[in-house]
Amino acid sequence: MRSTTAAALALLASSALALPTTTSNQPVTKRQSSNAAAVSSNIAAWQVDIENVNGFLDNAQNAINTNTGYNYPQEASFSLGTVGKSCPGPNGCASDGETRFANLKALLPSNDTHGQAAAAQLDISIPGVIGNLTAITQASPTDIPSIQAAINSLNDLRCNVVLPAIAQLWYQATIDTEDTAGTPSSIPAVSGPSACAAVGTATL
Ligand SMILES: *[C@@H]1O[C@H](CO)[C@@H](O)[C@H](O)[C@H]1NC(C)=O
Ligand SMILES: *[C@@H]1O[C@H](CO)[C@@H](O)[C@H](O)[C@H]1NC(C)=O
Repeated sequence: MRSTTAAALALLASSALALPTTTSNQPVTKRQSSNAAAVSSNIAAWQVDIENVNGFLDNAQNAINTNTGYNYPQEASFSLGTVGKSCPGPNGCASDGETRFANLKALLPSNDTHGQAAAAQLDISIPGVIGNLTAITQASPTDIPSIQAAINSLNDLRCNVVLPAIAQLWYQATIDTEDTAGTPSSIPAVSGPSACAAVGTATL
């Protein structure tokens, strides 16, 4: 489907060059194709941000369980990506995920009630993720009880609310912008840290 989309874009580009006087249908088709590409690249980038936060939660929990030295506040700030940004590459932090969310929301049609419901859920629940990560950045590195409490809150919120809502949003945004009828192109799975028994699957 990816190559189909690329071929469709190439075709549109060449026909726009060949036919400067387009029919009224063509600009609409072109806009849908470009939104499909924007949605899919946004989702792929957001997946990296989510996995980075999963990795932090896994590593922090392992360090607590095995009583291994770990700089929880510093690692949390890397994962959050707002302080001394050191998350992998140019993207990959929780704060980047917030940007992905804003971008995807802007691409979501207003009449998509399921997608808008997922976005509304994320509007109210993402601040709790940022807030709990921030709490770890501000904790004393040896205050394991408060660090563990913030990790538990993060897992509770992400596994049960945030990640399932993201799965729903990704699914809806993909089918909204699909420029051919039928099964949507592949949508990346939303994975959680080891502490998540399962992340809810997207439903229509
Ligand atoms: C939203 O509106 C567009 C344009 O009128 C339409 O093609 C689409 O099917 C609608 N989507 C839903 C979920 O109603
Ligand atoms: C941490 O997450 C919980 C939900 O699990 C939420 O109620 C709480 O407000 C969050 N804390 C901060 C500081 O955002």
